[in-house]
Amino acid sequence: MTKSTPPEKSGSDPDLRGDYSRAGPDYAVEQDWGAYSEKDHALFRRLFERQSKLVPRYACPEWIEAIGGLDAGSGIPRFDQVSKKLKAKTGWEIVAVPGLIPDIAFFTHLANRRFPVTVWLRKPEEFDYIVEPDVFHDFFGHVPLLFDPVYADHLHEYGKGGLKAMHLDAVKMLARLYWYTIEFGLVKTPAGIRAYGAGLISSGGELAYCVTDPAPKRLDFDLEQALRTDYLIDRYQSTYFVIDSFEQLMRETAPDFKPIYDRLRTLPALTP
Ligand code: PHE
Ligand code: FE
Repeated sequence: MTKSTPPEKSGSDPDLRGDYSRAGPDYAVEQDWGAYSEKDHALFRRLFERQSKLVPRYACPEWIEAIGGLDAGSGIPRFDQVSKKLKAKTGWEIVAVPGLIPDIAFFTHLANRRFPVTVWLRKPEEFDYIVEPDVFHDFFGHVPLLFDPVYADHLHEYGKGGLKAMHLDAVKMLARLYWYTIEFGLVKTPAGIRAYGAGLISSGGELAYCVTDPAPKRLDFDLEQALRTDYLIDRYQSTYFVIDSFEQLMRETAPDFKPIYDRLRTLPALTP
């Protein structure tokens, strides 16, 4: 189960495993595609193949439509080639990063339609579980949806909202929203509930679980509830929020959050 760590958890943690020595002030690095070993590519292919058996049944149609055009099944993709396609479609591009990055850098990239993708790949023994996001999670989980115009605009707004939340000391609340939407969100489709959250789409176990298991709650998306609900990063979610569409997500996150933050700050957080 891949869990991406939300913006609030990013930062200058000495335990982060990437190589930050060559990162610029915005934390961008060269992908250095030629430096991946054949073993890295083979492991990426194995991860890709496992998920490919699941996504037709459990991932949302927007994700499925986009992955087909990406030719990502033959190994770790070249970010520059994908960025070209992405830029033409929705104006987004990929920026290579050494791993988790500080909030300010993360939000600034999103606010400029740049999605940070970790360069390194997990080790073979982490096939089923990895704590920090790696290139497989970031690329496979997040990048395809950036080809959807509404999703792409929403994530851009989220990035701007993140910079604003930093000034309002509300990043923790906004990070919960990210968790329950961008990482672990479900969406209603004519065929039934499907996953659009990257943490689900890149997960070997939770992708089927989140759609079919009777145990977790699947609540209709509620902005204030998402902003208030704590989350667990080391197990399958016990609550998922289900949106009707990316348009709904865009619409419901459009209002000014300042009064909402001010009100929710006075209330206790909810347990998942
Ligand atoms: N509308 C939010 C604000 O005013 C910003 C935001 C947009 C947050 C989209 C999340 C998603 O702070
Ligand atoms: Fe993620």
